[in-house]
Amino acid sequence: MDRLNRRTGAMSLTLLLSLSAAPTQPQAEPSHGQRPWQNPELSPDLRAESVVRQMTEDEKFSWLSQLLPVPDAPPASPQPGAAAYYQPIPRLDLPARLENDAGLGVTNRGNARPGDDATALPSSLLLGATFDPALAHQAGAVVGREARARGFNVQLAGGANLIREPRGGRTFEYVSEDPLLTGLIAGQSVAGIQSARIVSTVKHFAVNAQENGRVMASSNLAEAALREADLLAFEIAIEIGRPGSVMTSYNLVNGEYASESGFLIDRVLKQDWGYAGWVMSDWGGTHSTEKAVLAGLDVQSGAMLDPAPYFGRPLREAVAAGRVPQARIDDMVRRILRSLFATGVIDASQRPDTNTVDPAAHRLVARTVAENGIVLLKNAGDLLPLSTDTRRILVIGAHADRGVLSGGGSSSVTPPGSLRLPGTNLMGFETEKVYHPSSPLNAIRSDVSGEVSYADGTDIAAAAQRARDADVVILFAEEWRTEALDAAGLALPGHQETLIEAVAAANPRTIVVLETGGPVTMPWLDKVPAVLEAWYPGAGGGEAIASILFGRVDPAGRLPLTFPADEGQLPRPTQSDPALLASSPGRPIEGGTVHIPYDVEGSDVGYRWFARQGLDPLFRFGFGLSYTRFALSDLSVERRDGALSASLTVTNVGKRPGTDTPQIYVSLPGPAGFVPRLAGFARVRLEPGESRRVSLPIDPRLLARYDVARGSFHIAAADYVFDAGEEAGKTILRTRLQLDAIDAGK
Ligand code: BGC
Repeated sequence: MDRLNRRTGAMSLTLLLSLSAAPTQPQAEPSHGQRPWQNPELSPDLRAESVVRQMTEDEKFSWLSQLLPVPDAPPASPQPGAAAYYQPIPRLDLPARLENDAGLGVTNRGNARPGDDATALPSSLLLGATFDPALAHQAGAVVGREARARGFNVQLAGGANLIREPRGGRTFEYVSEDPLLTGLIAGQSVAGIQSARIVSTVKHFAVNAQENGRVMASSNLAEAALREADLLAFEIAIEIGRPGSVMTSYNLVNGEYASESGFLIDRVLKQDWGYAGWVMSDWGGTHSTEKAVLAGLDVQSGAMLDPAPYFGRPLREAVAAGRVPQARIDDMVRRILRSLFATGVIDASQRPDTNTVDPAAHRLVARTVAENGIVLLKNAGDLLPLSTDTRRILVIGAHADRGVLSGGGSSSVTPPGSLRLPGTNLMGFETEKVYHPSSPLNAIRSDVSGEVSYADGTDIAAAAQRARDADVVILFAEEWRTEALDAAGLALPGHQETLIEAVAAANPRTIVVLETGGPVTMPWLDKVPAVLEAWYPGAGGGEAIASILFGRVDPAGRLPLTFPADEGQLPRPTQSDPALLASSPGRPIEGGTVHIPYDVEGSDVGYRWFARQGLDPLFRFGFGLSYTRFALSDLSVERRDGALSASLTVTNVGKRPGTDTPQIYVSLPGPAGFVPRLAGFARVRLEPGESRRVSLPIDPRLLARYDVARGSFHIAAADYVFDAGEEAGKTILRTRLQLDAIDAGK
């Protein structure tokens, strides 16, 4: 069966340890200009190997951990604000490795580069809602170009964790609750970043589903479920994005720290998937020397936060005592070099930088992503789109006069003009609550000739009073999330539910615009005619919201995760007590491991859990309204030359142009079967009356169960059901396909 490309070429740890150690003394150095690693015709593997042979032990170890905080690292990092700086090796013409956070744009740690105007992209969750891998590539390329223009060559990006816990603090940094959607979007965004000839990570490997107690929570899950869900998302992202590096997560998986899990790093990533790049820990996420190194961890990141410089002197001692083979040290360095060659970092460093950055074009990409990922959840009586002739509009709440909300933590981008409010304390540093300078109020004002006024919403009675006199009220409600801390429940925080009820009672034409880091519950839903989910929409967010409200853009976003009706529907209704989970990286871990039982839902994450339990959520995965209507017809599924694909026809049967996102779900009924899984989707833009036939490739792993005994995905001989629809759990068309047993690979 045709499979997505797999990489080969990486040596397994077992194989590597059986090889004789590489020479410990550098060989005679060829003169400049004749160095084999400067020959771009040679493979990255050969080039890396030839450098390793020239490196001294001190040079090798200088690349495996960084013991001092970046500003103190000698010599000082050429670019302030980096998350890590590994020194150059001028003797061998090797550049420094300058690592920076860039999940949602190039960050500016501690505002170390005053005035830096890097583009703040929308949240990854919004990118997931676009269901558009090509847009993810464009957004990634923005990050890549801006990073390179600032001298960074390793980007800490590519969040590919599945959203298992919708209250998770970093839900906004992840793409979705589905492995296929997550893998495709994260993979393309990594490919986009690396198109600028720099390295991107994927992170946080693996099952970093909650933030509370992230250094002491163990994500417990049987191997088959891991492989079919969380690991599959990473596997697809790595196949597509070919990231130069993978960052491990802080948490434990089945009782073992991810950064020292031989199962996750050596077996799954390096052996089964043939991953040839390097594996770095998260900052302050390394816990041992030999165990971690022999499990496959290649770099101890943020070592100053760890209790010991595990990959410094202790590792040298372990090598000297024969507890870690020299060949493993060479492998660690070779992997770093290989990625620096494969992505073009080293070659690019030897040429003048011709990279050009067009800030206006980049802001337009951010806005386009937002316009494609904002989801229209409700539109009773076709209240939207609004007429630009509307006379009196009242905008309320969420600092909509100043900007749009951003998530907090290491991914936060703070361009000049951002509104910066006190946030929370993250790893001993104050995290700000940032609003990107893209004011929805100003954007709405520039759309209409009538009067547009603003109330901040803190005085509920006053806001309701003013709402009475408006033709339309646009009420912004927000939910701020940040790294290191989960949301305390799914309700909108503070007095916002009361505000919505009071304003809606005063004016029945009240539109709620949500800026949230994940799903929220909506006890007020019946009281308002229209709801728009704008997530954290980034640098062009205000304009994107206005474009949709006034119908210049058809709402094309679809939910990348289920909105539960209430928390009782979740696999774990009660959250772990945050008070018990206060430890953070860089601090002594207090108390023991807290075990989180993900076997409750197993591989049935999100919408699959709702299907398995027969639960009706508030809004389903894949759902989103348009200003036009679509019809699906003629579904067929076929297996030709070993490859599976589905085809169907999409027609715009409404009166406006718009974009539909038809989805195919595959299921196997019966006790040994599985509930519907997303197997393919397409984005189809159609004029009124226009029809298009689309063909969707289907990854065989989505029809498979992971067979632990065989060590591979296996498709059972059976009659598979394929449903086409526009949201999970609502079938519009159905067909079946009988398949023979198939081995679908590792
Ligand atoms: C985060 C990573 C980030 C790193 C470096 C950690 O706290 O978990 O996502 O890349 O810090 O800033």
